[in-house]
Amino acid sequence: MANLRELSPIDAAFYKEADAFFAAHHDLALTYDDVTLATLYSDILPRDTQLDTTLAEGLVLNVPIISADMDTVTESRMAIAMALNGALGLIHYNMPEKQQLSDVSRVKNHIHGLIQEPIKVAPDQLIGDVLKMVEERKFEFRTFPVVEASGRLLGLLPGHVVKQRYAKRRVAESLTPRAQVHTIRQKEIGKDPIACADKFFTDHPGIHKLLVVDDEDKLRGLFTMSDVERITQEKKAQFKPARDAKFRLVCGAAVSATRNMFGELDRERIVAHVGALVDRGVDVVAVSTAHGFSQGIGATVRMIRDAFPELPIIAGNVTSAAGVDFLAEHGANAIKVGQGPGSICTTRVVAGVGIPQLTALFVTARAAADKAVTIIADGGITKSGDMVKALTLAHAVICGGLFAGCPEAPGQIMEINGKLYKQYRGMGSLAAMKAGSAARYGHSTGAPAKVAPEGVEALKEASGPVDVVLSQLIGGIQSGLGYLGAANLAQLREKARFIRVSPAGMREAATHDVVEVKTGAGESGQ
Ligand code: XMP
Repeated sequence: MANLRELSPIDAAFYKEADAFFAAHHDLALTYDDVTLATLYSDILPRDTQLDTTLAEGLVLNVPIISADMDTVTESRMAIAMALNGALGLIHYNMPEKQQLSDVSRVKNHIHGLIQEPIKVAPDQLIGDVLKMVEERKFEFRTFPVVEASGRLLGLLPGHVVKQRYAKRRVAESLTPRAQVHTIRQKEIGKDPIACADKFFTDHPGIHKLLVVDDEDKLRGLFTMSDVERITQEKKAQFKPARDAKFRLVCGAAVSATRNMFGELDRERIVAHVGALVDRGVDVVAVSTAHGFSQGIGATVRMIRDAFPELPIIAGNVTSAAGVDFLAEHGANAIKVGQGPGSICTTRVVAGVGIPQLTALFVTARAAADKAVTIIADGGITKSGDMVKALTLAHAVICGGLFAGCPEAPGQIMEINGKLYKQYRGMGSLAAMKAGSAARYGHSTGAPAKVAPEGVEALKEASGPVDVVLSQLIGGIQSGLGYLGAANLAQLREKARFIRVSPAGMREAATHDVVEVKTGAGESGQ
């Protein structure tokens, strides 16, 4: 019997490994939809595949997906959701440094299952005001702790009184008084908060909320039974949360190559900013710019590397082997690859530069292997199949658009013609540059009116929560590995065999000649 692990000579003539395939197409820049991967003999079930990836020493993810450092994608809520699913969020820098530090702290201090800043109401509010808040902020719950101005707990406003019928009543008249509310002292929670809350709910049938208070009876948190049950289920899940050595969730933050009023890199400020992030426990910083193969970015990476020898650094973006060499030599561990592939990017249109993503990944991956650094595919990913193709060359992917519609992304949901949307904008759009990201595109802070934007302001249809979106994407990656007989990402990189796809082949790959009544993407809306 033929060796099932070897390609037959007939297959080998068509389905090429990366080196041969990209060498044969050296005069044509290719992206995800231009190629497809050949199926190979498999004795691996998708559900048994492992997706862990090491981006740098001390930076291991259980799932190779990163949410983009964009101001409509990643703040603390998104970063928490990503880390809980084994992935990573990079908190953007289009906000005051102080706020970015608090966001990092929120992720690092997050106790899974304990809502640390529950939504509260005040005793003198009208039920009508509470209802308005529920509608405006689209809360899916209606039970709220009631606290006085000092934070002391006064009671619990039960969901069954948050009704239009009682709109004119005050919260104080309708609450369950403090003495009847179930609470636990912060210091009694112990090392395993979920086990503690789980036991409480078992011992108190019919009670669905447990409030946490401190010694002065000030509200410090809230457990809900549904969260606790979900987490208990998750403990059995294949992809564990991404945690640091102290069992805290992992978190990344973007930093800018800030310049002083004379146009020089502001060494003091950059090092102080990164130092403060490190003090808060950040696991990786990302020096994010549109053009990473540039003097200022090299110098910034070098500055951070010298000041923090152990800190993992992501830097970019580049699309050339020389760009990878340059950033690696300045001290970066993981290098972002992508110029202009993003769904909101206009760099290629505006500046006429940038390389379609798959060719850029091949070129940079080969340089990265020589320098012992990793590469991350950044932008242009619209489906899990793109992720599988990207991961044949890269160690992780960064996505903005795929997560911008999730409730965990910053921004409110808006309704247009009966459909729900969230804002999603490029960091090189005029509005984002005005909010602070101008330096990323080589302009002075404040985005002067005359610069050419390299991104657009757009909308994304509101999607399900990160859990649901990620589970679809992870399932897709696992299927890809299964088809290639790859047990893990290293085997995927080694085994992948490529072939070009014709335009007709591309049409054939999508659904066709049917009226779709249900999308194949489950609940995620992707
Ligand atoms: P996706 O396709 O996931 O892309 O929405 C997200 C990535 O796009 C990059 N990015 C930009 N690129 N102009 C650009 O040329 C922009 O305004 C812009 N904003 C973000 C970034 O690398 C991000 O991770």
